[in-house]
Amino acid sequence: GEVIDAPVVIIGSGYGGAVSALRLCEAGKKVILLEMGLNWEKAGIPFSNLLKPGKSSAWLKKKSIAPFMNIFSLTPFTGTLDRLDFDHINIWVGRGVGGGSLVNGGMAVTPKESYFKEVFPDLDAEKFYNYYFPLVRKELKVNVIDEQFLKECPYYKFTRVGEAEAQNAGFKTMRVPNVYDFKYMEREFRNEVPRSALNTEVIYGNNYGKNSLDRTYLKKAMDTGNLEILDLHRVDHIKLNDDKGYTLNVQQTDTSGNRIADKSFRCKKLILAAGTMGTLQLLMQSNAINNFPLNERIGKNWGNNGNFMTGRNWVRPLTGGTGSKQSTIPVGGIDNWDDDEHPFFTEIAPLPMGMDVATALYLLINRVDKKGEVSFDHNSRSLKVNWDESNTANMKENARFFIRKMNKANGGTRSHFLFHNGLGADICYHPLGGCVLGEATNEYGKLKGHDNLYVLDGSLIPGTIGVNPFVTITAIAEYCMENLISQNEFT
Ligand code: FDA
Repeated sequence: GEVIDAPVVIIGSGYGGAVSALRLCEAGKKVILLEMGLNWEKAGIPFSNLLKPGKSSAWLKKKSIAPFMNIFSLTPFTGTLDRLDFDHINIWVGRGVGGGSLVNGGMAVTPKESYFKEVFPDLDAEKFYNYYFPLVRKELKVNVIDEQFLKECPYYKFTRVGEAEAQNAGFKTMRVPNVYDFKYMEREFRNEVPRSALNTEVIYGNNYGKNSLDRTYLKKAMDTGNLEILDLHRVDHIKLNDDKGYTLNVQQTDTSGNRIADKSFRCKKLILAAGTMGTLQLLMQSNAINNFPLNERIGKNWGNNGNFMTGRNWVRPLTGGTGSKQSTIPVGGIDNWDDDEHPFFTEIAPLPMGMDVATALYLLINRVDKKGEVSFDHNSRSLKVNWDESNTANMKENARFFIRKMNKANGGTRSHFLFHNGLGADICYHPLGGCVLGEATNEYGKLKGHDNLYVLDGSLIPGTIGVNPFVTITAIAEYCMENLISQNEFT
C-alpha cells in the first residue's frame, strides 16, 4: 500500500487527541490525525435519536446497543456508539471525529479538589484549579442551565422530582454544568430552532446545541490550516523503527466497515489518544505482532470510575412520574461524596422513552477500592479485562443504600424493569487508566521506554476521578502538552 511520511501523527480525535492537535497546530506543526470513525459533519449525515435509532446509532452492529430497550434492527454502519463486551463489564465508547464527545451526556464536572489530590498526589493542584480547569471549561464552552427555565420546563420534571426526592431522603443535591448550549435549549423549547436535546438526541449524536469537540478544540485546530483529519482510518498496529520513529499500519474503510485501502504512515512523533481501551488495544496488539516495546506498568491501575447504574420504580407515583417528555441533557446530581461510609456522587439521569414509565434512573460514580488490570489474549487478539464482582462490591453496597433510603422517604421499589435486580454493575461509560501518568509514562505522558511516543487520553487517569471524567482528561492533556511543547519535544 501507500506510504505517507508525516512529522507528527495523532491517533484518535477524542479529548486527548483534540487538545494535542490544537496546541501543536498553534505551535506551527503540521499534524495528521487518524480517526477510525466517521467525520459526520463532512459526511452530512444527520444523527438519529433515541426513539428512532438509525445510521449513527451503532458501530457496525445489527441491533441497537443502548444500555436497555434494544428492539431495533439495523443495517451495519460506522455509527457513533460502540460497546465492548467483556466477562463482567460492558464498556460503551464513542466513534467518529470528536470521539466520546459525540455520544456523551455533556456533563462537565470538575473533580473535588481533595479527591484530585488523592488520585494525583504529584500534580500541582493549585495550578490545575486556578489555571487548567478554568481554561478547559472555557475551551469546551461549559455553561449552566438557568434556574427559572429548569423550574418551568416540562422536560425537566425528572430533575425536579429527582431533586425533591433526594432532599426528602436527606441527600445533598447539586447543579451539574454541561457543554450543551442551554440558551439554544431555551430557544428549542420556544420552537424557534430545530430541536435536539428536546428531541431525544444524545447517545447517537446531537444535531444541534451540543458543543462537541468538532465545534470547539478540533474546529480551532482546523482553522490554523495545520491539521489534516483522516476519518475512517483505523490503525491496526504500530512498529518501532530503527531511527526511533514509528510506522503505523492503517486500514481505510467505507461506512459499511469494508476495507478499501491499506496505508502506512511513517512519523517521527506519535501521539496515542485512542481512548483508554483503544490505546491499550493498540499498544498490546503491536507488542503481540512485532514485539513493540511495552513497560510492565501498561495495563495496570485500570478502573470503571466507579460507574454503577441503578433505578427505581414507583408503584403508585406520588409525583405522577418523571414525565413523558424529558430532555436528554442531565443537569442534576446528588453529592454524597463526603459520607465516609457511603461515598458516592450520582447523576439524576433522563429516561426519555416518549412515555411516562414512572422510573427514575441514576448513574452512580463511586470510589474504586480495588483496581482492575487489562491484559491481552493472543489467540483472539483482543483485550481481557480482569474485573469481577469483587471490584464492584463497594459500588453495589452504595447503590443499595441509596435506593433503600430514597424508597423509604418517597416510596418505590428497585427497578427490575431496567436490569436484573435493578442493579447495573456491568455498565461502564468511563473506562480509565492502564497507562497511568507518572507510572507507565513520565510526568507529562511520554511513554517509558520510548523516545517519541506520548499517550494523552483517559488511560492516564488511574481508574477513578470521582466525577464524570472529560474535564479532567482535557485538563491533563493541556498540562502535558504545555510542558512537552516547552521542553521542545516536538521541535
Ligand atoms: P475518546 O474515547 O473520546 O476518543 C478516542 C477516539 O479514538 C475515538 O474517536 C475512537 O474512534 C478513536 N480510535 C480508537 N482506536 C482507534 C484506532 N485503532 N485507530 C483510529 N482511531 C481509533 N464523560 C463526562 O465527563 N461527562 C458525561 O456526561 C459523559 N457521558 C458519557 C456517556 C456515554 C454514553 C459514554 C460512552 C461516555 C460518557 N462520558 C462522559 C465519558 C467520556 O465521553 C470519555 O471519558 C471520553 O470521551 C474519553 O476521552 P478520550 O480522549 O480518552 O478518548
